[in-house]
Amino acid sequence: MIVCICNNISDRQIKKLVEDGTSRFGELQTKLGVSTNCGTCRTLAEEILRNHTLSLRSNESSFIQSPPIPAFQGT
Ligand code: FES
Repeated sequence: MIVCICNNISDRQIKKLVEDGTSRFGELQTKLGVSTNCGTCRTLAEEILRNHTLSLRSNESSFIQSPPIPAFQGT
């Protein structure tokens, strides 16, 4: 889905940057150019940034908190 029509930036591009460590909106603006013209896309771009960041953190914490796999005891 195209988020920023002015600069032809998709939600996938924003999510990829988040996965690569971008966590601030200003970084998205610098790296992609999102919301650097009319600004209509800003709310949606911020929402994608926030939601994808939370989603990644949620996945990381559930991975860390998973109980260890019991070792095979043999018979
Ligand atoms: S739609 Fe993103 S700057 Fe205009």
